[in-house]
Amino acid sequence: MVEDLRLDSLEGVGPVTTRKLSDAGVHNVMDLIVRGPVDIAEITGMEKGSAEKIVNKAREHLVEGGLLGKDFVSASEIYKHRQSIGKITTGTNCLDTLFGGGVETQALTEVYGEFGCGKTQFAHTMSVMVQKSKEEGGLEGGVLYIDTENTFRPERIVSIAQAHEMDPEKVLDNIIVARAYNSAHQILILEEAGSIIQENNIKLIVADSAVGLFRAEYLGRGTLSVRQQKLNHFVHLLSRIAETYNCAAIATNQVMASPDVFFGDPTRPIGGNVVAHTSTYRIYFKKSGKKRIARMVDSPHHPEEEVIFALGEAGVIDLEDAEKKTKKTTKKATTKKVTAKKAKESEVEATVETPEVEATVETPEVEATVETPEVEATVETPEVEATVETTVETPEIATIEEPIVKEIESDDSETTEE
Ligand SMILES: Nc1ncnc2c1ncn2[C@@H]1O[C@H](COP(=O)(O)OP(=O)(O)OP(=O)(O)O)[C@@H](O)[C@H]1O
Ligand SMILES: [Mg+2]
Repeated sequence: MVEDLRLDSLEGVGPVTTRKLSDAGVHNVMDLIVRGPVDIAEITGMEKGSAEKIVNKAREHLVEGGLLGKDFVSASEIYKHRQSIGKITTGTNCLDTLFGGGVETQALTEVYGEFGCGKTQFAHTMSVMVQKSKEEGGLEGGVLYIDTENTFRPERIVSIAQAHEMDPEKVLDNIIVARAYNSAHQILILEEAGSIIQENNIKLIVADSAVGLFRAEYLGRGTLSVRQQKLNHFVHLLSRIAETYNCAAIATNQVMASPDVFFGDPTRPIGGNVVAHTSTYRIYFKKSGKKRIARMVDSPHHPEEEVIFALGEAGVIDLEDAEKKTKKTTKKATTKKVTAKKAKESEVEATVETPEVEATVETPEVEATVETPEVEATVETPEVEATVETTVETPEIATIEEPIVKEIESDDSETTEE
């Protein structure tokens, strides 16, 4: 099959064109489809007409090989084709219900929401779940993770994998991380991803975040159209890759406050219409205390629905599981207190004072607290001692060493003389 996809397998594409194309990062027939004629003409310097011809040939070639759908097909054929679309379980019942089974291949799923709502946690979870066997709801595939905010954490992958009883090392090996440093680099990574996707059986592409770098680089109203144009290019590329290579694509997007919205939720995804129009599914994540709400905002075939989920060691989790955990920790806390009570039978007042219910609310996955102890440690110890020492030592030196005293005296006399 790989041989079938070689550029020179296309009629009329000789060594010169092949070289021109591969110099421009187009390595196989799939890449031709992904980039499209306009792009191909631009990057190779080819005439637009010739580029169109080559891309059309590529399409015909893939249709013949059954890798791409025909231009005109019956609805029943499309229906049959849609049955073969892969779905990746989210590892939770609630989000699987929302997605109608899981995150689909050949589609771009946009997840947007404010900071800390769980977009990155969701992306990490999906990077593990896609590797599960088909019986368990995965696709036995690898991941291409485009990390634009430096928030990819292998440690999270390890704990999510462990929570799902998977071998963490194998799971890590199947995730290819591409750290994008600027928006041009982010686009380049995707443009050159074709062979990586094929060689590594990639079934999920994550862009976390898809929009952040564009937003940071193109500031102000004057640059808005360029920004949207570039973002458009990126998002379309992502969507076409998902379709051509039959893999799922997840793009995350932060929201910003829209001052012109007076009623309802005053937040809007940053990418605006560009991402919204290109993505097949759009999910909105919202914080609600420790809980998270996910809403299917835009889908060609899902009802607009909401579910509640939570975040935990296992990534995105069902609320019941989060509550079970909370109960377990509560039980532990109460048994400890009971034994403490037995030990100190007389101190009834002390046991009454500690409200157990409050402790249960605060317990689950308090990752934020990890930050604090280190800071305290550095502040506390050495400096205080140092200052104590010096203040204690100085008067002794002054009294023992006579010359200093003399100098001071003479200084004094000088000053008094003056
Ligand atoms: N190990 C963990 N166990 C439980 N919850 C965790 C863990 N790690 C992170 N979280 C939760 O995930 C939240 C952060 O979520 P995440 O990083 O996915 O946000 P985000 O939507 O990507 O935000 P941003 O827009 O800033 O990128 C934390 O506030 C915390 O509630
Ligand atoms: Mg994030």
